Amino acid sequence: MIATASRYPETYAAWKADPQAFWAKAAEAIDWIRPAETIFDPDQGVYGRWFAGAECNTCWNAVDRHVPTRGAQAAIIYDSPVTGAKRTLTYAELRDEVAALATVIQDLGVRKGDRVIVYMPMIPEAVVAMLACARIGAIHSVVFGGFAAKELATRIDDASPRLVLAASCGVEPSRVVAYKPLLDEAIAISSHKPEAVLLLQRAECAAAMQAGRDHDWAVATSAAKAAGRFAACVPVAATDPLYVLYTSGTTGKPKGVVRDNGGHMVALAWSMANLYDARPGEVFWAASDVGWVVGHSYIVYAPLLVGCTTVVYEGKPVGTPDAGAFWRMISEYKIRTLFTAPTAFRAIKKEDPGAEHLKRYDLGGFRALFLAGERADPDTVKWAEDILGVPVIDHWWQTETGWPIVGDPLGLGALPVKHGSPTVAMPGYDVQVVDEGGHPVGPNVMGSVVIKLPLPPGCLPTLWQADDRFRESYLAAFPGFYSSSDAGFIDEDGYLFIMGRTDDIINVAGHRLSTGGMEEVLSSHPDVAECAVIGVKDALKGEQPCGFVVLKSGVSKSPLEIEKEIVKLVRDRIGPVAAFKVAITVNRLPKTRSGKILRGAMKKIADGDPFTTPATIDDPAVLDEIAAALEGKF
Ligand code: COA
Ligand code: AMP
Repeated sequence: MIATASRYPETYAAWKADPQAFWAKAAEAIDWIRPAETIFDPDQGVYGRWFAGAECNTCWNAVDRHVPTRGAQAAIIYDSPVTGAKRTLTYAELRDEVAALATVIQDLGVRKGDRVIVYMPMIPEAVVAMLACARIGAIHSVVFGGFAAKELATRIDDASPRLVLAASCGVEPSRVVAYKPLLDEAIAISSHKPEAVLLLQRAECAAAMQAGRDHDWAVATSAAKAAGRFAACVPVAATDPLYVLYTSGTTGKPKGVVRDNGGHMVALAWSMANLYDARPGEVFWAASDVGWVVGHSYIVYAPLLVGCTTVVYEGKPVGTPDAGAFWRMISEYKIRTLFTAPTAFRAIKKEDPGAEHLKRYDLGGFRALFLAGERADPDTVKWAEDILGVPVIDHWWQTETGWPIVGDPLGLGALPVKHGSPTVAMPGYDVQVVDEGGHPVGPNVMGSVVIKLPLPPGCLPTLWQADDRFRESYLAAFPGFYSSSDAGFIDEDGYLFIMGRTDDIINVAGHRLSTGGMEEVLSSHPDVAECAVIGVKDALKGEQPCGFVVLKSGVSKSPLEIEKEIVKLVRDRIGPVAAFKVAITVNRLPKTRSGKILRGAMKKIADGDPFTTPATIDDPAVLDEIAAALEGKF
């Protein structure tokens, strides 16, 4: 470790010396209804459980407990350049909204432990919906608006919700996305049928209501408020699930990442003070979407748990209306900390390389930029540092962990930056790099990035009703360790470098997508004999998907026609967020002699990276055919 004035080395050492004492101390930031009997119980759950025996309520900690001291402080700032709306909710107003909605949800039959799907765009009601579930101990499962009906149906079937909370539409810069027809279709094709839908009608698009099943959000909550109804916070076990968030797995069936109540609050509160250096009363903006883990952790729960003001932004980094959108937000709302994906900064840099828009705004109060969700390329990090003149901090984490695994802890004192590295392991995480046999490798040697069990508070204890899938997906490959499915190395100073995934997950504009899932869609086309989807390097989005298809013999349609149908099929089945725009027909795919498709070699050709022809290849000439087929496509 390099010499530093940061308190990081002793903090990490204190955790390592006594993890239970470390997390017991961190837990003092939270109000408990009943304290934990054991800080960590290794005998509960798949690999142990944090804060066993404790009782708490996440909504209480995020909202109610702040009202006496910060009732008039903004809890949520909503800014929507796509609709022109702006609105602020104070902590007192937020509590009243949440408590009223919670009574409506209860009236619709939802009880502690029931699941509720939330299918909503970036509006304050989405946050209110999540908190109302947390308030009554219901388990929310938020589905991102850019997914198609089929993806929503898969989640409905896995989570078996009693209720769906939805809005009539989302608003993209180019179009209004009507959510209700997608929801109706999803419920029609799912095997599980939710009993009720509570629908928020937005001015941009009115949705048709189904009698008996659908209820009007505004009507029901107004009636609850007029009647002075107010739901109390229901005590839950610290180990009870707060939410299930589905993320891409290696197949078309997404993984339901479970988050508990107690450990989650403790970890998030610790991260706000020590990693993000965010203090109560400050404005903290995570420019993401509530449908992703960044949105769950750092739009909704973490800022509110520590008494910050959070920002719900319904817009983009560029085009709403220009590449100065983020600077306007920072100056207008005195934002101290911004967290976003590197793609957003690449988009701004592309449109405004000289940062001319920045000159129009006063960013005097801005303190730090955090980047995560995909690899932060050094060029973009340097550009952001130069134009902003504040620390730009790359940090690495996953939906599964819920909070950063590796970062530069600004709150403890920043460490020297090495571009291309998200810096060092946070307390709680013993991060190691191992070879295929699970043996640790030396400094600067690439391998699989793994975390020694137990995972810290806040990380997933299991997958929703799928302990075996959890074990198989994460714990089986390297016994005693959690496998991150990322590859990378640790240098001589203990800095981690993440270089890519070891599975078939790709990262498109900070969105995590499964090429396996896309291949399932391509294969379902009646004219496709076999296929392969790879992620091709993209200067803006990091990667973009590309599908290769071999057609069945005797197909009468032209390849061009079929390619168009395939692009549409992925958009219809997975959704626009897959950004699947390129399908290429080839005569055959490169394979090993045992018949395995050589996707890695195809990717290297598409990326223009040097590669050696795999020794096991059946016919090396196929690689030239792939190179020829890719000509002019990217
Ligand atoms: N609802 C419906 N559709 C959505 C959507 C939503 N919530 N979010 C995105 N989409 C659609 C887009 O409209 C686009 O549709 P199109 O194919 O008709 O153009 C498609 O999904 C792909 O979206 P995206 O990959 O985001 O590309 P984009 O061109 O719209 O925007 C960026 C590019 C870089 C501006 C945008 O990706 C961005 O802001 N990225 C920031 C990354 C981020 O927030 N990551 C979350 C994890 S931190
Ligand atoms: P998600 O679960 O959507 O947050 O995606 C997690 C994956 O995104 C990780 O497994 C990495 O592959 C990638 N990722 C996230 N943050 C970083 C980062 N800072 N550097 C490199 N890759 C990252």
